[in-house]
Formats: sequence, C-alpha cells, structure tokens
Amino acid sequence: MGTNFIGLDTAKTETLAATLNELLSNYQIFYMNVRGYHWNIKGENFFELHAKFEELYDDLLLKIDEIAERILTLGHRPAHAYSTYIEHSSVPERKDVSDGKEAVENIVDSFAKLIGKQRELLSLAGDADDEGTVPWRPSGRLFCDRAVRPVASRRSPGRHRWVGAGPGAAPAGGGTSVPLPPGG
Ligand SMILES: [Fe+2]
Repeated sequence: MGTNFIGLDTAKTETLAATLNELLSNYQIFYMNVRGYHWNIKGENFFELHAKFEELYDDLLLKIDEIAERILTLGHRPAHAYSTYIEHSSVPERKDVSDGKEAVENIVDSFAKLIGKQRELLSLAGDADDEGTVPWRPSGRLFCDRAVRPVASRRSPGRHRWVGAGPGAAPAGGGTSVPLPPGG
C-alpha cells in the first residue's frame, strides 16, 4: 500500500479528498443560496431573518475555507469553480426566494444534506486513519445548533420549531413551523 507525505494510504486519501470536495461543493452552493435569502427576503420577519442569514453565511464562509485547507493538507486541490460545485453538490441552487418560511425550510434541508455528507466523511476518515478529518461531523451538528436554531424563536410540540412567532405560545403567536433536521 502506498502512503502519502503525511503517512496516509494514498488511495484512501484520494477518496477522502474527493468526498471533501463534494462537501465543499455543497457548502459553496449553500453559501450562495443564503446570500440570496439575505438579499431578497421580504415580509414582517425581514429584520430578524436578514441578520440571521448574514450570520449564517459568514459562518459558512469560514467553514468553506477550513474544508479547502484540509483538502490541501491531504495533498489534493480544492474545487474552485462554480461549474464544479454545481456538478457535485446535492444542495440545489435556489433562486429568487423572498419568502422567509421557504428560505428557512431550504436551510434546514441543506443542513440535513451536509450532515449526511459529513457522516460519510467520518466513516472514510476513520477507515483512512485520518484523525484530522474526523472532527467534521460533530462540527456540522454544532453548525445546525448555532445557525438554524437561533432563527427559530418558538418551539412547537414535537420536532418542530417556530420561526418569526410573536409574543405568546405557538401557534397562537403566529410564525412558521419548520421541521428540525434529522439528528439535530
Ligand atoms: Fe447585506
């Protein structure tokens, strides 16, 4: 078995880097979608959501760079063209979204996809004995907690949270019911 310059199996590292590039692609498309939500959002929850979306895309940008740097550490090249991202992202492009409920639902769905990809990475990194890549999965979960949950201001019974609800208990306070991501 061949090993690379940091002592990891070459073939397994190649698979790992390819999967990290898929994760990077998902994050990049997700990032641009969230910028779109920030720019286009309308309605009574504008101020809350506009600010939260900015907080989220700032976080995504940091994550994007960490993923790219990890790929470089493994001796591979991070994808750096939107045509590549579109080809490899399971998070779809979202255009012209101005409705807060739709934006938040898309965000939750995107986090679910990222968590799935990060779970796949955890298994591959474990198999390649790459402890540097293993932490990606828990950080993904923290991301969900940090970024999605503050958007929700009320909790409904079951695995839903209420977004943009006014004073009083949901659903009486209004707002939008958004399902939580799996495992979140
Ligand atoms: Fe802005």
